[in-house]
Amino acid sequence: MNALNIAIRRVTPPDVPAISALAREIWQATYPGIITQEQIDFMLEQRYGHERLYDDLEDADKWLDQAFQGERRVGFAFSEIYKGEFKLDKLYIHPDVQRMGVGGQLIAHVSERAKKLGYPCVILAVNKRNDKAIGSYKKYGFIVREAITDDIGHGFVMDDFVMEKVL
Ligand SMILES: CC(C)(COP(=O)(O)OP(=O)(O)OC[C@H]1O[C@@H](n2cnc3c(N)ncnc32)[C@H](O)[C@@H]1OP(=O)(O)O)[C@@H](O)C(=O)NCCC(=O)NCCS
Repeated sequence: MNALNIAIRRVTPPDVPAISALAREIWQATYPGIITQEQIDFMLEQRYGHERLYDDLEDADKWLDQAFQGERRVGFAFSEIYKGEFKLDKLYIHPDVQRMGVGGQLIAHVSERAKKLGYPCVILAVNKRNDKAIGSYKKYGFIVREAITDDIGHGFVMDDFVMEKVL
């Protein structure tokens, strides 16, 4: 299938409410059955609360990119320097346009940034039960580096694979 024609733009402060709302919509379509509703609500608040996103935009080691199909915001990718490595921290595409190459284009965009900055690889963490995402990361050249469980507080854990793509 031909990839959808998208434009990738940096997130700016006026975009924050829409990014937060888009995250909720995509998370609700993705994570029931993988993690509990309580954990979904906790993590959305922790990671996509407006104040948190405004703070992320101020952080020189974080990049927030969004994808538009025409005027419609259809997804986003956040990347960051994490413990000395370049990490794709978030990648979320609206269900209406999944499997049309948008995720692949955002991965390429983020990988290009990592390469320009001189990093040898891009890493990410993905829930071990998120088979579709794992399949998509493998398609774009990521391999599993290790399995981790991370205590994120309030009785919740992240049960993830760390994957890496050599640039
Ligand atoms: C995972 C995700 C980011 C991939 O982006 P995308 O734009 O849908 O993916 P692309 O079109 O670039 O790549 C397609 C590949 O992704 C995988 N994939 C995506 N959607 C899928 C689906 N519904 N069923 C099975 N595989 C799927 C497949 O490997 C597919 O390759 P194929 O079509 O050759 O089989 C996107 O589907 C998404 O946002 N999913 C929900 C949120 C999520 O899980 N995010 C990742 C958190 S770590």
